[in-house]
This record gives sequence, C-alpha cells and structure tokens, in this order.
Amino acid sequence: MQTFPRALLEDWMRLYYFDVDSDLGSSGVSDYSLADVRAITGLSIEEMDQIVFRDSQTLGGAGVRQAIADRWTGSDSDRVMVTHGSTEAIFLAMNALLCPGDGVVALGPVYPGLCDVVTGIGCRTREWRLRHEEGWTPDLDRLDALVSNSTRMVVVNFPHNPTGSTLTPGQLDRLLEIVERNGTWLLWDGAFSDLTYETPPLADPSARYERAISLGTLSKGYGLPGLRIGWCIAEPSALDRMIRVRDYTTLHLSPLVELIAARVVAHADRILEEKRTLAAANRELVDRWIDEHAELIRWVKPRGGVCGFPRLPTVDDVDDFCHRLAETHRVMLVPGTCFGTPGHVRLGFGGQTDVLSRGLGSLGTVLREAGVRVAV
Ligand SMILES: Cc1ncc(COP(=O)(O)O)c(C=O)c1O
Repeated sequence: MQTFPRALLEDWMRLYYFDVDSDLGSSGVSDYSLADVRAITGLSIEEMDQIVFRDSQTLGGAGVRQAIADRWTGSDSDRVMVTHGSTEAIFLAMNALLCPGDGVVALGPVYPGLCDVVTGIGCRTREWRLRHEEGWTPDLDRLDALVSNSTRMVVVNFPHNPTGSTLTPGQLDRLLEIVERNGTWLLWDGAFSDLTYETPPLADPSARYERAISLGTLSKGYGLPGLRIGWCIAEPSALDRMIRVRDYTTLHLSPLVELIAARVVAHADRILEEKRTLAAANRELVDRWIDEHAELIRWVKPRGGVCGFPRLPTVDDVDDFCHRLAETHRVMLVPGTCFGTPGHVRLGFGGQTDVLSRGLGSLGTVLREAGVRVAV
C-alpha cells in the first residue's frame, strides 16, 4: 500500500487559513465571487440554468477543453485534460507514469505535493535544491549532475512556490536539453506561469518536448481556488495513461464548474491584468517594508508568483513564532518547516493591499518582540 508523508503545509492551512484576519501565508491572489466572475465574463443566470447535471467527459467537457487549448496549446484540445485543481493533475500524472523504485529528481524546497506523492509511490527521490545563499537561483549544472538515463521523471515548478525564483529562457533551454538527452519525463508545474514581473511568462515546455507534462490552474493568478479547476497539457498517449487512474478516483468534473471555467479562460487577460497589477504593487510594498526592517527579516525579491521566502535571522523557533503571530494577532504566515526549510517563512503578497499592510504591521510588532538577537 502507498504511504504518503503527512502534508505539513495542509496541516498548517487547516489550523489557521479559515480563522485569521490577515492571510499573509497563502500563495494566491484575492478571491472572486460568482457575481464578480459573471460581471467580468458576461455569464448569465439563464446560461447556468441550462446546465443539466449529467456526467461530464473523462478528459473534460468539450467547451472547457477547447477554451484551455485556444489559450495554451494553439487550439489542440486533444492535448488537454481538465482536472480538479492542479493537485489532481500532479497525482494522476505521477501515479500514471511512475512505479515504485523509479528514480525521480524533484526541485526543493517545493510545494509538498510535488515531492510527497513521489515518495508515497515508493520512488527514489533526489533533490535539486535551490539555496538561499545563492539567491534561490536554479543551478542547471547541479541538475545535470543529478539526472541520468535511469531518471524516470524531473519535477519542477517555475515561477517557484515558495521562493518566487524562476528560470531565464536560456535556463529553460538547458533544462529541456538535460531531460531530452536522458529521455526523462518532465513534470512542469506552471501554477504561477502568468505571474511574472520583469520578464514575460516562459514558453510552455510541452510544446517543445513530447515527454513534458505542463500543469496549470485557476487557483493562483485567477483568484478562483474554490472553483477547483486545473489542467494538464501533454501528449494524448500520456493523458490516456492518466485516465486509467482517474477511472478509480474522480471520474470527471462538474458541468457547472466547467462552464464557469471556460468563460474565465476566455477572459483570462482581463482577470490576470487586474491581479498582476495589484500583486506587482504589493511586491514593491513588501520589498520596501523588508528594507526598513532589514535587521529582522530578509528576502530575495520574488521574480514571479505571489510569495517570497524570507529568512528571520533573529527568531530561534520560526514555527513557534508563526503560531504566536496567528494566535495573538490573527495573522497567518507559513513556517519554512512546511517546506523542509526551517528559519524561513512563506510570505504571500497577492491579496488586498490594506490587509497586507495591517498584517505587516503586526508582523513587525512580533518580530521586534522576538528580536532578542540582532544579526550582525
Ligand atoms: C506549485 C503549486 N502547484 C500546485 C498547487 C495546487 O493548486 P490547485 O490544486 O489549487 O490547483 C499549488 C497550491 O498551492 C502550488 O503552489
């Protein structure tokens, strides 16, 4: 039987996500209501009333698959599978393509689903580590040394949760050269692919490499985590293998969710523009605030996504600190231990600016209280 490691990030979210006033720990943007979505997309109640709650198709209904294909695959809907969040796409792809004992190289620190599912399947995992002292910059030489022709899959996520690091186009070329040379599956988690600041979004690797599987989601840049819509773009033969797992798990999505998702994807530019503009302003706000508190908190300014992974040099026990912040000030951060990296916190800046500012105020107070040891 598969034994999955405890998902520490989800444990932490269960503790505080629903109960705090300032969420500074999540990796998404502020959430839309159905009324917001209807106003942006023109989706009418009459159209929603037409929905009949039949089963939908295994890979997703034709409308939503085509909407995703039109935006991300040059209209080839045969390469699209729609999933319950990208979490399901991760689970299906790994269970379809990996066997116990397979060699996997996974980025670290990383969103836990990207390494723990592999561990649960019984693979031999090697970590491609991003390092704080290197500014979280991906070292492609190190990846090259880790991957061999016995590596079954390389798992990455860029822009990266939790550090906000990403690849340059040249580094992406090198990554593709490494996996192609070794005939390795590439699981490319592009949950934050639309959220970049100084540079345009990276090109989708699955358009260039047939063993690449690209994942996307409406949970992050689109403010719709509760819609539970993700997708997977891959060769039809890989999707076919994923169906074999879906047939025993979720079968398909709700036609109502698919209708809403299709409309959102068709209006993606407008939604993204609003969310990215707010996140970019918030990123500057946090950067200035961290500069002003440099003796207490330091980060590498994120280049993509909506979170960073600052270090708290004066805090001895960051877990305890985060519990205190949540319990006494109702502000949530996520301790780095949830990503196997103590001493850091995940700090999200995708939400409302006033909530962020209030949360930073409380964080400053608790940091000063904890600042018994000022770093030199
Ligand atoms: C990198 C990454 N991938 C995938 C997911 C899963 O998101 P969802 O299932 O909501 O699409 C998350 C959620 O935080 C994430 O950060």
